[in-house]
Amino acid sequence: STAFTNILTREDGGVGIITLNRPKALNALSTPLMTELNDALAQYDRDDGIMAIVLTGSEKAFAAGADIKEMRELTFMECYKKEFITSWTKVTTTRKPVIAAVSGFALGGGCELAMMCDIIYASHDAKFGQPEINLGILPGAGGTQRLVRAVGKSKAMELCLTGDMMTAQEALAGGLVAKVVPAGESTVLEEAIKTAKKIAKKSLPSVMMVKECVNKSFELSLAEGLHLERRFFHAAFATQDQKEGMGAFVEKRKPSWTHE
Ligand code: CAA
Repeated sequence: STAFTNILTREDGGVGIITLNRPKALNALSTPLMTELNDALAQYDRDDGIMAIVLTGSEKAFAAGADIKEMRELTFMECYKKEFITSWTKVTTTRKPVIAAVSGFALGGGCELAMMCDIIYASHDAKFGQPEINLGILPGAGGTQRLVRAVGKSKAMELCLTGDMMTAQEALAGGLVAKVVPAGESTVLEEAIKTAKKIAKKSLPSVMMVKECVNKSFELSLAEGLHLERRFFHAAFATQDQKEGMGAFVEKRKPSWTHE
């Protein structure tokens, strides 16, 4: 695969693992880093050997936000002309599931990037926040929108207006994260990989359809969402994996997916 300089990639049991790797800058999300991240996601999405993706950072920071040093001198016209940050959404169009394994700071664009992922696991010392207000700006990659949907209006307003950070436990209570991994034997990355490997053993068409339906629940009315789900459910009966999955159940054996 391509040689990257701002991220690291490795593969393990059907799982593609992407590590943001600008530790000295707390993984500040520079344009070169985001370009590499987009490329890595696209490669894994195309790769038939990859069934799920884990996105992680360092122990100290998942990502401390957009790169302030890069943004400092930007003008409105530069932002506007090059559609600054608009290309950051590759995670949301990746069709295989993406799990964020968050240790340390997930701030600003870092929190927003984690929220673009399908599942967030947090280490006990993870901290989430939207501190843009302290820089004289506001969140620009979905913070005011996805945080509301994740933790509700009051908590989202509090975080975006004060710039304060939320602990992993608060994020769990609010529903932003699916699991907090306590200090101990296994790390948040190991737990995320374990879950990704579990998903990697399922039928890929089913996995992709679930992901698409759940994500559409944010865009559609309930009636439209239920209609979409019903049509995908019907479509699942066109897959070989449906015959295999139900056949295996009735014959009391493990299914052997062809992902078709
Ligand atoms: N951009 C660029 N560099 C950053 C950075 C960022 N977002 N966050 C940290 N760094 C750099 C620091 O400048 C510092 O570099 P130097 O060693 O060259 O001085 C290095 O990373 C280590 O950071 P600190 O010394 O500040 O570490 P700390 O442990 O004292 O503090 C922190 C950690 C509280 C996370 C602090 O670094 C911080 O507040 N960072 C900025 C967080 C922020 O405001 N994020 C929002 C960015 S705007 C955005 O993301 C817009 C959007 O919606 C897309």
